Amino acid sequence: MSASVIVTIDGPAGTGKSSAAAALSQRLGFDMLDTGAMYRAVALLAIERGVSENDGAGLARVMDASHIDVDFSSRPPAITLDGRDVGQRIRQVDITGIVSRIASHHEVRVRMVDAQRAVAAMHARLITEGRDQGTVVFPTAALRIWLDARPETRARRRADELTASGVAVEFATVLADIIARDASDRGRAEGPLACPVGAVCLDTSDLSFAEVVDELERAVRARLPCLSVGCGCGGSR
Ligand code: DC
Repeated sequence: MSASVIVTIDGPAGTGKSSAAAALSQRLGFDMLDTGAMYRAVALLAIERGVSENDGAGLARVMDASHIDVDFSSRPPAITLDGRDVGQRIRQVDITGIVSRIASHHEVRVRMVDAQRAVAAMHARLITEGRDQGTVVFPTAALRIWLDARPETRARRRADELTASGVAVEFATVLADIIARDASDRGRAEGPLACPVGAVCLDTSDLSFAEVVDELERAVRARLPCLSVGCGCGGSR
């Protein structure tokens, strides 16, 4: 297979990255990788195996004895842990509470980076979203996108999502969690949350979801005029 055409989307929690990446991948016929879900699956593994979120070596040990995979036969792709679909479970609050700490360990990140590159090698066209996709994992991606939004806006979106799914939450708690996670994701030594060099930047605070997806589609089409499958030009002509 010729080199994959990769579009990265990075940004803090609650900017709408996952939903935008899913809609964009549908519109453009790309596969989509949610790398936050992969880190969440490691958090679940830690809970199930009784490994502390502070124990990098212990996390590496249980990761090496398990399989975290992305099943691209479902839409959106399903995240599996040792063959079990854990897509719902990894959204629960106990996972959200420890995942940023889990994602701070070198031992965890090197394994995730390798796994993400292995996924990309299997897909001709991939939109991958997370925190370090355009900076560390795919710094030469055809297009790097950075999504941001005001913390209050992101917290409001998260609180509304949780309320809609039947979880009672206080706005102030969600906001405090978002601010704490931002600080942890931005402050870690390895793969910190940061805007990639040369990225297309979009603040989604005052945009509707449809406007965000339209804007991203325009950016992809401007950078990759050829989206014909199998053409082999890498999207550039
Ligand atoms: O996008 P999310 O909320 O599902 O991400 C969960 C956590 O994983 C978040 O704290 C940041 C971390 N993460 C990361 O460190 N690197 C990535 N590429 C994706 C997510």
